[in-house]
Amino acid sequence: MSLLDLAPVVPVVVIDDVETAVPLARALVAGGLPVIEVTLRTKGALEAIARIAAEVPDAVIGAGTVRTSADVSASVGAGAKFLVSPGTTPSLVDGLLASGVPFLPGAATASEVMALAERGITELKFFPAEAAGGLPYLKSLAGPLPDVRFCPTGGIRLETARDYLALPNVGCVGGTWLTPADALAAGDWDHVRRLAAEAAALR
Ligand code: 3PG
Repeated sequence: MSLLDLAPVVPVVVIDDVETAVPLARALVAGGLPVIEVTLRTKGALEAIARIAAEVPDAVIGAGTVRTSADVSASVGAGAKFLVSPGTTPSLVDGLLASGVPFLPGAATASEVMALAERGITELKFFPAEAAGGLPYLKSLAGPLPDVRFCPTGGIRLETARDYLALPNVGCVGGTWLTPADALAAGDWDHVRRLAAEAAALR
């Protein structure tokens, strides 16, 4: 089954305190969102991925903000089950293809999408979704590039997610709105679980 079809929404998570990783993942899974992207933007990100992989078996844990082949190896080594990148370089694509796990490379233009499709990659992250043109832009890509499907991410919230999910070339959407920094700092896992449940109900 495609990564794009496992859940309607992929929480994009920035983990500052590694101790929050496991309760956070449990809250997202309990709310109905098992596919979780931990961004490699903080010092503890790899450790967070490793802990979630070990302690939250129902989560499908992945790494986001993957920018280099070294990031690919480190993420898979930590236990990441999938990889997401904000954009794409030729060497990163080589690393992703060799990784042995599913991945969503970032693209924002028809040319970038075509370059990836040439390499056999037709499931992508559309980033930064809202800033790059949002719904009408993605709708326009579906005409000439109907075989490519996306996980749009960047500026999407609960209120706009439903419209993205209605597009034929969208499998799921990603976003940070499910894990607000203040809820993480306060350890308010019930709030996170409720946000996840609202998002899971989108489909
Ligand atoms: C990403 O890397 O996908 C973005 O940082 C998502 O963030 P946002 O949902 O807050 O726009």
